Amino acid sequence: MTSTSPVSGTTATPADPLVDVDVDVDAAIAAAVSTVRRNIATFGPAYPDDTTVDDRYRQRPAHGGIPLGGNRGWTTSFRTGMLWLAWELTGDDAYRDAALVDAADFDRRVRAEEDLDTHDLGFLYTLSTVAAWRLLGDEQARDASLLAADHLMRRFLEPAGIIQAWGDLSDPAQRGRTIIDSLMNMPLLTWTHEQTGDERFSDAVVRHTAQLREHILREDDSTFHTFYWDAETGEPLRGATEQGAFDESCWARGQAWGIYGFAMNYAVTGNAELLDGARRCAEYFIRHLPADEVPFWDLVYTDGSDAPRDSSAAAIAVCGLLELAKVEKDAARAAEWTARAHSILASLIANYAPANPEDSDALLLHSVYDLPKDNGVDEGTLWGDYFYLEALMRVARPEWRKYW
Ligand code: GLY
Repeated sequence: MTSTSPVSGTTATPADPLVDVDVDVDAAIAAAVSTVRRNIATFGPAYPDDTTVDDRYRQRPAHGGIPLGGNRGWTTSFRTGMLWLAWELTGDDAYRDAALVDAADFDRRVRAEEDLDTHDLGFLYTLSTVAAWRLLGDEQARDASLLAADHLMRRFLEPAGIIQAWGDLSDPAQRGRTIIDSLMNMPLLTWTHEQTGDERFSDAVVRHTAQLREHILREDDSTFHTFYWDAETGEPLRGATEQGAFDESCWARGQAWGIYGFAMNYAVTGNAELLDGARRCAEYFIRHLPADEVPFWDLVYTDGSDAPRDSSAAAIAVCGLLELAKVEKDAARAAEWTARAHSILASLIANYAPANPEDSDALLLHSVYDLPKDNGVDEGTLWGDYFYLEALMRVARPEWRKYW
């Protein structure tokens, strides 16, 4: 063990050994931020695409009137989030300056009303302009964040009490549908309530998260990726997948969003059912890990399968388990979540980060975006990179204040 930071794979319960590898967290951080730095030079203000192709990011393709490298889709803010993390980790103002260029562009995007028909406004604005406000007190970024939260609230459907995930609110294919990922979009509403005192925002978080806890988490502790409600009557209808193997399977990244999202929303709502939800998501996720503790892209696959892994799900789970450990009431369980998070992270550092940072533009290899659509399979992803760096930050600096 050469780490100067407390990652260890050796604190397992004997019945369930954790990955036992020596890793150097500080070296992993140095490698990761060197890639973030190189990507500033490679891309400038242009945004990389969601995933790599053969381990290299390309500029985001032009689409719907938004030019090549433009700010569209749900993942551009993960680049910004990495820049903020790299700035906090190194103190090098080049990262902050690049993050501020992005934050100004997110301000422009929301004012121009470009590509806002999505619940992912939470991912987009939390990691860009809310982070700019938290770290620098940037007033313009605060205003842009409040505007984004207003747009997100337009997706709140009474009487179902949910935020619709995707598409135009009148689209029959998407009406009344939400997805487990949306738990991560609630912090934008929570932050807005803190800023404005307007209880519409906190009420939406309370109702949306309770609905997901009741319907998207199944009896056996696995999760549906998406769930439909009748938008007019509020009646819960059915679960369905979009990116998982099949409707009843358990998409690995969704389960990881559940760990992090339920834990984080428990902390702000005080709803004990959400803590229970986070624990159950964590237990199921851990029970379905293969020997190296990085899940296959869907948890129906286990050791012996040749299905691709989703390292991004592992990185999200590390952050989620560390968040769960913070809010866990039972000290022994908190230690268990922390040990498991460290163990998964050790495996990511040892086996899933590029051996040499020059080998890829990604911080983390071997993720899956959407296997059923053959999109980004066994590639780097912007969110995998972000959560890997957040995980390293959380371990190196346990006092770090999250942007969420
Ligand atoms: N939020 C979309 C995904 O995780 O792929």
